[in-house]
Amino acid sequence: MENSKYLIKGGRVIDPETGLDGLMDILIEDGKIASIGNPQSKIRNPKPELIDASGKIVTPGLIDMHVHLREPGHEYKETIETGCLAAAHGGFTAICCMPNTVPVNDNQSVTDYILKKAGSAGTVRVYPVGAISLGLRGESLAGYGEMNAAGAVAVSDDGNPVMNAQLMRRALEYAKGFGLLVISHCEDRNLTENGVMNEGAVATRLGLEGIPNSAETVMVARDIDLCELTGAPVHIAHVSTEGAVRLIREAKARGLPVTTETAPHYFSLTEDAVANYDTNAKVHPPLRTVADRDAVREALADGTIDVIASDHAPHSSMEKELEFDRAANGMIGLETSLPLSLKLVEMGLLSLMDLVAKMSNNPARILKLDYVGLKPGNPADLTIIDPEKRFTVDADTFRSKSRNTPFNGWQLKGKAVLTVVGGKIVFDDQ
Ligand code: DOR
Repeated sequence: MENSKYLIKGGRVIDPETGLDGLMDILIEDGKIASIGNPQSKIRNPKPELIDASGKIVTPGLIDMHVHLREPGHEYKETIETGCLAAAHGGFTAICCMPNTVPVNDNQSVTDYILKKAGSAGTVRVYPVGAISLGLRGESLAGYGEMNAAGAVAVSDDGNPVMNAQLMRRALEYAKGFGLLVISHCEDRNLTENGVMNEGAVATRLGLEGIPNSAETVMVARDIDLCELTGAPVHIAHVSTEGAVRLIREAKARGLPVTTETAPHYFSLTEDAVANYDTNAKVHPPLRTVADRDAVREALADGTIDVIASDHAPHSSMEKELEFDRAANGMIGLETSLPLSLKLVEMGLLSLMDLVAKMSNNPARILKLDYVGLKPGNPADLTIIDPEKRFTVDADTFRSKSRNTPFNGWQLKGKAVLTVVGGKIVFDDQ
């Protein structure tokens, strides 16, 4: 991407791929990682620019495999350009964008359009996710071959479940032929019905209709079964319930190619965040109980949950400043995901190494990207984190176009201060 030379000096380099964890220097040349450890011997003229990373953590570039960019169609919520800037600001060097745009990304021309726009934005790498079904309607399969050829790395109807099990079976078989990952939004719409938040005492008190945990778990069970039937990998998106993690843990123990992600709101919040009808806490799947939140945390700690992904879902005030049951689902997450995840390290639930694996190496491997970790020769995608930086979340400072976060005003510690993509600095707050 860029021809500059940098020497990142004195940072604590953490990379699960190589097992590195220690103070060392990294030389970047021609957009690639030239050397790690003791690169001084490799330095030739012209001398590289120095980046002082002392007191900081240097990781492989963070990858968020679940982002809604809203372009084409809803540019007033987010554009590819603003979404990419928000990603860089949050420490991400690559993101996957979901296909529920207008028009839907169910064909080569929309995939091409996204990649063209992402290329001219010139910040982070964008990996499009194509639709499982045409128009996300759950009726017939989209053209995986053409989307894959155009650059799609996975397929998903995210936002909508694939309610028809036969169609899901065919999707898994068809996607397997192209080596495309199927990402499943597990929700039984018949069980969701008119629900707008988690089913239980809080919903009853608020007079809101509830969504039972079963709306998620029955679909997770179905998709695990279809994974076994077809032998095709399935990735379960935004897991939120104790029952789902139990099913996934058991499926993994049986050796099935099931992977999963959760989002920071499911390990940071519970349904209580909705108690004052805060529509910024309205999300699909809904925020659940303390028992679910704790089960998600435990599943992160024991490796059942492979990935932390933000499910960044921008909405404007027009869709959020409404009665709770009429408001849109979703919250932005690119600019809070890393600091909220670092809390898990502070709580002793995850090591930094585990955290980096869930935010970089595991998504890279699950998506079959051709670079994983900080190996010499890999593109120079890396994130420098200041683990001590304290700040108050203020959505007005975000690069995202939208402001729908329930974390506004939270005091957090630790954030990205430098994001490098292909040797180019795309965010610098050192
Ligand atoms: O809350 C959500 N918002 N969940 C989804 O699955 C889709 C997303 C969106 O696109 O707004």
